[in-house]
Amino acid sequence: MRIYRLAVEMTGFIDNQRKTGQKIGFVPTMGALHQGHISLIRQSKKENDLSICSIFVNPAQFNNPADFQKYPITIENDINLLELAGCDVLFLPSIEEIYPSQFKKEQYDLGYLETILEGKYRPGHFQGVCQVVDRLLSIIDCNTLYLGRKDYQQCRVIEKLLQLKKYNITLHICETIREIDGLAMSSRNVRLSTSERTQAAAIYEAFLYIQKNIKIVPLSDIKQAAESLLTSKGFKVDYIEIANDKLMPLDTWDGKSAIVALIAAYLNEVRLIDNMMIA
Ligand code: PAJ
Repeated sequence: MRIYRLAVEMTGFIDNQRKTGQKIGFVPTMGALHQGHISLIRQSKKENDLSICSIFVNPAQFNNPADFQKYPITIENDINLLELAGCDVLFLPSIEEIYPSQFKKEQYDLGYLETILEGKYRPGHFQGVCQVVDRLLSIIDCNTLYLGRKDYQQCRVIEKLLQLKKYNITLHICETIREIDGLAMSSRNVRLSTSERTQAAAIYEAFLYIQKNIKIVPLSDIKQAAESLLTSKGFKVDYIEIANDKLMPLDTWDGKSAIVALIAAYLNEVRLIDNMMIA
């Protein structure tokens, strides 16, 4: 696997590959890689000639400085996992490469996506995500961008970014990879203690409860019951929401259209998010 640390080298390599008609898939990450990330690389490998992964812990998207400081860094293990998965190129830039002194911060018009759910609880977070993804895409001219459904709102935000900036890039949203007990794989899971790790499976139980009862219990009651389930397992809940596929939160459901349940909750210091298509 090739490793580039400089934007100019990364872009030079891509430009040469594109000239020869290579199809390029790109998987942006913040490292501390797990099988969820690797599933995106595998998907990219199936559909492209070249698969590129980036690892960059983006300070601009952390609204909580302590969360940024504690973000796990496991670069040697990440490189091993990427090599095993057959990733072709790793882009591993420094902060100065991504945000050079002449970098101009843009404001992205994300509409309601910025004020609901994660946007409400993490002000500025999605502007930071757009800033870094826009910058990465200016360096890595890819055909397809691979994102995980685990961060469903982020997928919708990046879809909006691609429209706003008129990127000619296909977005491929890949399914969430889970541990055996249903906990969505996440770089933050390593911060859970043994007992917290056991408790964390309650998020998946809450989704299963919602899925089982969605046709018989009104939405507000179902959200309340799911919250009680999480609270009883030691969570502090930011939100439990049921929304349509555009992520508009719903008060009632017509029993037919696609809906997604979304949860964000803390186990002590660690904030976990997850979602599940319910119908
Ligand atoms: P990160 O949290 O490292 O995630 C990188 C990609 O992996 C995202 O698209 C995320 O949705 C996906 N992913 C994470 N856990 C997954 C799982 N269990 N199953 C499937 N996919 C999963 O998301 C970010 O980084 C950043 O915000 C980024 C887009 C890189 C911008 O900085």
